[in-house]
Amino acid sequence: MNKKRVLSGVQPTGNLHLGNYLGAIRNWVEIQSEYDNYFCVVDLHAITVPHNPATLAQDTLKIAALYLACGINLNNSTIFVQSHVKAHTELTWLLNCITPLNWLTDMIQFKEKAVKQGENVGVGLLDYPVLMAADILLYDADKVPVGEDQKQHLELTRDIAVRINHLFGKKDQKILKLPEPMIRKEGARVMSLTDGRSKMSKSDPAEGSRINILDNADTIAQKIKRCKTDPIKGLTFDDPDRPECNNLLTLYTLLSGKTKEAVAVECLDMGWGQFKPLLTETTIEALKPIQQKYHEIMDERSYLTGVLGSGAEKAAATADKTLERVKGAMGYLPPAIL
Ligand code: AMP
Ligand code: TRP
Repeated sequence: MNKKRVLSGVQPTGNLHLGNYLGAIRNWVEIQSEYDNYFCVVDLHAITVPHNPATLAQDTLKIAALYLACGINLNNSTIFVQSHVKAHTELTWLLNCITPLNWLTDMIQFKEKAVKQGENVGVGLLDYPVLMAADILLYDADKVPVGEDQKQHLELTRDIAVRINHLFGKKDQKILKLPEPMIRKEGARVMSLTDGRSKMSKSDPAEGSRINILDNADTIAQKIKRCKTDPIKGLTFDDPDRPECNNLLTLYTLLSGKTKEAVAVECLDMGWGQFKPLLTETTIEALKPIQQKYHEIMDERSYLTGVLGSGAEKAAATADKTLERVKGAMGYLPPAIL
């Protein structure tokens, strides 16, 4: 039987942090052997807010290297760069023309990011979820493993697919497949270290609010030492009045590989003075092998560019077929008979 298809991606903006790792990439690694996977570095999304042309290419390579360093296996997965596969932008245009404007102005992430951009909000920021829909729909993805913050974009992707099928599909013939989000309960929303009520984010100006996958041991220790806690003794999960406590215990659970039940018992009588060094040690140890592998891969540049070259070729072969299917259904004249 053919394996079901998975597609996901991360933007090459800023440093990847524990939210990206625990909310997304770690889950890709865990499920990859059961699926046929496509993981892209979504560099076209990276320019929807002002970007630095001097670092974009290097940031793109870094994310691809991190995919491999975190354990993405090329036997099950294709790793590629979004801008290397032209079908993404072309399908985006076709989808743009059937997407109602108010679906996009309703997107929470657009509203949040638009506020930060002030007067300078680009059309690309509004159109961001349509490009994301194209990423997913081009590969007939069955599942899309992401963090909680992407749920609304996945719903929009399904709405766009339904609309294309409805407008241009013949009776029982579906043009585009409806994907399902895959959002794990634990780690789906890793919170900031400086405020347990807001999510850990690349764009938070406070560097101390996040732990980056590539942070060294001293930096990790400093950030955990200074992170926000509360004055209550005894550490417990799921207390709505203790969001920082819940977040730090969840980080410890996921990074140690222990069960939530085991951690609940282990930490029940602990104070922060005892817990923080434990979390520090666990985080450093969990990230160490990833960091080592990352540096090895970055030092072998030709290997990495080779992976991305063959990844783009394979991805384009799949994506082009879907694009032709959509264009055919929309009535375009095929180039072969021009
Ligand atoms: P981005 O950094 O926006 O490119 O996000 C890449 C992936 O990481 C997406 O699947 C997000 O849902 C996930 N992600 C980002 N921030 C967090 C967070 N704080 N907690 C959990 N997942 C996250
Ligand atoms: N919007 C996603 C994020 O910021 C990144 C992304 C772009 C993505 N295209 C995608 C995720 C396709 C999953 C599938 O996190």
